[in-house]
Order: sequence, then C-alpha cells, then structure tokens
Amino acid sequence: MDHFQIRGGVLHAENVALPAIAEAVGTPVYIYSRATLERHARVFRDALSATGKPHIAFAVKANPNLAVLRVLANMGYGADVVSGGELTRALKAGMKPEDIVFSGVGKTHAELQQGLEAGIGQFNIESEEEGYELAAIARRFGLTAACALRVNPDVDAGTHEKISTGKRENKFGVPIDRAPAIYAALSQEDGLDMRGIAVHIGSQLGDLEPLETAFGKVGTLIGDLREMGCKVTHADLGGGLGVPYKSGEVLPAPAEYGAMVARITKDWNVQLMFEPGRVIAGNAGVLLTRVIRVKRGIERPFVVVDAAMNDLARPAMYGAWHDFEAVEPDGERMTAHIVGPICETGDTFAMDRECDALVAGELAVFRTAGAYGATMASSYNSRGFVAEVLVDDDKFAVVADRIAAGAIMDAERVPDWLT
Ligand code: LLP
Repeated sequence: MDHFQIRGGVLHAENVALPAIAEAVGTPVYIYSRATLERHARVFRDALSATGKPHIAFAVKANPNLAVLRVLANMGYGADVVSGGELTRALKAGMKPEDIVFSGVGKTHAELQQGLEAGIGQFNIESEEEGYELAAIARRFGLTAACALRVNPDVDAGTHEKISTGKRENKFGVPIDRAPAIYAALSQEDGLDMRGIAVHIGSQLGDLEPLETAFGKVGTLIGDLREMGCKVTHADLGGGLGVPYKSGEVLPAPAEYGAMVARITKDWNVQLMFEPGRVIAGNAGVLLTRVIRVKRGIERPFVVVDAAMNDLARPAMYGAWHDFEAVEPDGERMTAHIVGPICETGDTFAMDRECDALVAGELAVFRTAGAYGATMASSYNSRGFVAEVLVDDDKFAVVADRIAAGAIMDAERVPDWLT
C-alpha cells in the first residue's frame, strides 16, 4: 500500500497533486511520501514483533536522503551503513550511534576508525583480515568494537545475478564452513567483542525459501559456536525482502517473512537484527518526468521522457521493470518504447510497454523508485543530478536540490600548463 493515488483524474502524492511539484521544482524529480515510509516501517516492525524486540537498521544505500533517514530515525529505526559517507549521513539524520551497523566488504582503515570513534553499535566483519585490522585500531584507541561475523551461506537467492550476495563465488562474508575457526580466532582478540553472526543473501527476493535455508544454516552455526565455547548473543539477518514493481505482482508479505523468521529462530536465544532497505523505501517514491516528445518509430512510437538512465539506473542496469503511468490519464492506452534522451541504446526504460497514452509536454511517473533510485544517479551526458521532494499530507519540501551540470563542472579545471 502506498499513498500515490489518482484523485479527481490527477495523480497525487498524499494530498499534493504532482503537477504542482513539477511546476515548482521542475522535472525530472524524485517524490517521496512520508506517510508511505512510515507505514512501511511500521508494517515491517509489526511483522517481526513475534520475534521479540528486533533491532531494525534501515539499509541507507537504498535511500540515503537526509529527510528520508530522519523520518525513519523518528520511527526508531537505526541504520545499516556501508561507507564513511553513509555513516556521516546516518548520524546527521539523527540516528543514534549505538543503532548503527557498519557492513561492507571493503571498509578502509579510515572508515573502521571513523566507526570506532563514532561509537557505532556493531561492525559486520566480512573477512578475517578485516577483523584483525579492526582489532588493532580498537586497541590503539583503547576501545572495544562489538562485532558480528558475516557469513556466506552458499545459497542461491534466486534473484538477479548482480544483486545476489550469498553464493560461494560472491565476494561477501566468509565461507560458512570456515566461520567457526575464524569466529573463535577473532574472539581471542583484545579490542573485539565477537557477539554474533550476520547474513544477507541478496536483494529483491521473491521467494522466502532461500532465506529460510540461509537462516537454517546460521542457526546450526550458532549452535556449533556455542558448543565450542564461543559467545553468540546477536544475529543480523540482513535485508532482501522484495517489493512488487508490476501492478498485480504478488511477493511474500512482511507478515509471512516475520512468521518464517519467528519459526526458524525460536530457539536461538539471541537479539535479532535486520537491515531492510527496499521494502521500506521502494514503493514510497516515484520519479516524476515530462514527455519531451513522442517520436514515430517503425513498429512502435518512442516516448522520449526527460528522465534518463543517469537518473534511474535500474532498468538499464538490471533490466528492471518500473510501472510507467500518466499523471493525468484520460483512459486512452498506447503501446510504446519508453526511452530517455541519453545517447546510448541502454537508456531504455521499457520496450513494447502498454501504458497510458501520452503526448509531448505531459507528465508521467516511474513507480517504485524510492529505493535504489536517486542514490544510484550519475551525471552521465553532463545531465546534473535530479531534485528530490518529500511530501507530508498537503505540503512538500525540496529535500535535495537539483545539481546543475554547471555546478559539477565547477569542480573541474584545466591546468595552466595545458595550453
Ligand atoms: N544489507 C546488506 C548487507 C546489503 O548488501 C543490502 C543490499 C541490504 C541490507 C538491503 O537490501 P534490501 O532490503 O534493500 O534488499 N541496486 C540494487 C540493489 C542492491 C542491493 C545491495 N545490498 C537494485 O537497484 O536492485
């Protein structure tokens, strides 16, 4: 359920008609709904209530906008960060340091130090080498880093290969069969408080079974570690729950996920932690775009919109589907190729898409763009970065300025010696 609905023939975000935003801010623009973010945060938390009082850390990579993070901080969410930049954002947005988890396969020395100095709640260590490096830094500062060891359970998540993280050939975590030895060794290190296991097998999962298999393996590992005399008080089960991108598509509901987690983890006796991203933010955002022109094609027309692959990379990168709808539909339909202005064929949002009939100048949206949308933007073709807007009932605010191509150019210079 989201708060982007047609009323009086016009698509609204909560109680704001989208043409009003286009008028004030221009297009393309990402639009987020506060009520939808809050609803998703509540539904996800409620779905896990049978597991006790889980720690929920929003995966900042899905939508790092400060206003979005503030909404989630107000809902009691922590943050799962994967870079020093994300850590800085989470803190700036008001997330408490102790509610922040630091994941990522390539945390630099400086980032490990930044996390320690900020007093974050947990490091999810992705290799033995990282564990020893963190221990050394922590000792130097006279601190102790609370840590979970991320394991790679060798489970196929059944999702797009570029967003699958839990197969043995993927770079993430330590192989689960080597985890007991690594966990035991790191538990001996001064400076580290090894307290748990972390797992995340991929994103946009449409099936709970791979998750259940992975969690089952984690449960066995926790038992083995305890038998070896290791302390295990936490288990971070990552994110990954998929969302519907196509109207009518059915995915496992958060409640089904929660019931599965409760069943699998009932004897674990740990503090559970989660890192949802897409399921919170995905359907809480749309990308509003204007049709530049409709170009006659051989078999189909090309609807050329002012958004492009640099603004919303998912279709070009993963062949992802985003529903495309007119802001003021009149009941007419067409079948068209939906493309952006960028000079490569990959800048195609959809081929042979049946959609609302559109003509030049009309507004349309790509739905489900609240996660992995603006954050994956680039300035390819010197297009600048799109603006972002947050809607709250009948008001809206620009929560990220449009960055013009000229401003990006300001950071470039031609050296004197280049004549
Ligand atoms: N935790 C870790 C360690 C992760 O790597 C990720 C996502 C998450 C949590 C959040 O996963 P979610 O609940 O959002 O599925 N750009 C891609 C998605 C990349 C996901 C990367 N990791 C896309 O647009 O589909």
